[in-house]
Amino acid sequence: MSRYLFDNADSQAQERFSVLEARYDHWSRTALENTGVGPGWRCLEVGGGGGSLGRWLGERVGPGGEVVVTDLDPRWAVRRKLPAQVRLLAHDITRDPLPGDGFDLVHARLVLLHLPERLRVLERLVGALRPGGWLVLEEFDCGWTPVLAAPEDEAGVLFERVHTALLRALEMVGAEPSWGRQVVGAMMRAGLEGVTAKTYAETWAGGGEGIRLHRANIEQAAERTGEVEARVGATRIGETWFGDSELRRFLELLDDPAFVVNSYPMVSAWGRLGGADGPDRVRGADAVGV
Ligand SMILES: C[S@@+](CC[C@H](N)C(=O)[O-])C[C@H]1O[C@@H](n2cnc3c(N)ncnc32)[C@H](O)[C@@H]1O
Repeated sequence: MSRYLFDNADSQAQERFSVLEARYDHWSRTALENTGVGPGWRCLEVGGGGGSLGRWLGERVGPGGEVVVTDLDPRWAVRRKLPAQVRLLAHDITRDPLPGDGFDLVHARLVLLHLPERLRVLERLVGALRPGGWLVLEEFDCGWTPVLAAPEDEAGVLFERVHTALLRALEMVGAEPSWGRQVVGAMMRAGLEGVTAKTYAETWAGGGEGIRLHRANIEQAAERTGEVEARVGATRIGETWFGDSELRRFLELLDDPAFVVNSYPMVSAWGRLGGADGPDRVRGADAVGV
């Protein structure tokens, strides 16, 4: 069973979903549009988090379609107003029975990166597709987040140290921070055809919207570690201890417009299961009996 570091029960989850929605949803919508998703489609959105993309898919497929949004803990998506064709499910993709099969489109963003069983889960997602159906996986490559500007050299060094410790904390619970650069190969090996990817990144300046993701991640990782082991005047992230003044400085940098980092690059990859017989079936047409 997976151990997800960024538990949705913690206060930082809402901030995480709000940053992901604001900074990446426009990109994800474009990746999903590549599949032609439209009226009547049946979609599975795995690990839907705050539910913004589940809602958007619901609007795209319309009342004749169906969107199943799953999450280990769907407490944030539940708060969102969703169209009737969107069904929310508390569900562990690593072990619960799949909530249906024969989907036209399966999508997961920033979920498999966290799961030690990611290759087995990938197989399950492929198994949920109809012949000719699409899988869209979107994952960060956390290994390319250079500091692009800093008020002083030490600031860049501090960011790298804290960020490296965070990635180690993720690895310690089975996450793969470089999964983004592995996802195309994994999808090809899983038997998908025409696998294609595009990658999106932008600058994240201190005080801006995107960089708040680093604050949420570091604060949550620090709190989680503190529950296990505490020391006065220091905090452990992953395997590294940081003095309170170091972490304070790190958090100050996230508010300083002179400090700029590259965002996490989002690798958005899409591919299809072979075996569609003849030209693409149009689900919307099926649904109205055309
Ligand atoms: C980093 S968040 C991404 C949320 C959303 N996909 C997005 O991009 O905004 C990862 C999500 O995956 C969910 N998750 C983690 N492990 C899961 C599992 N085994 N099965 C289903 N969902 C899981 C988490 O609860 C969380 O909502």
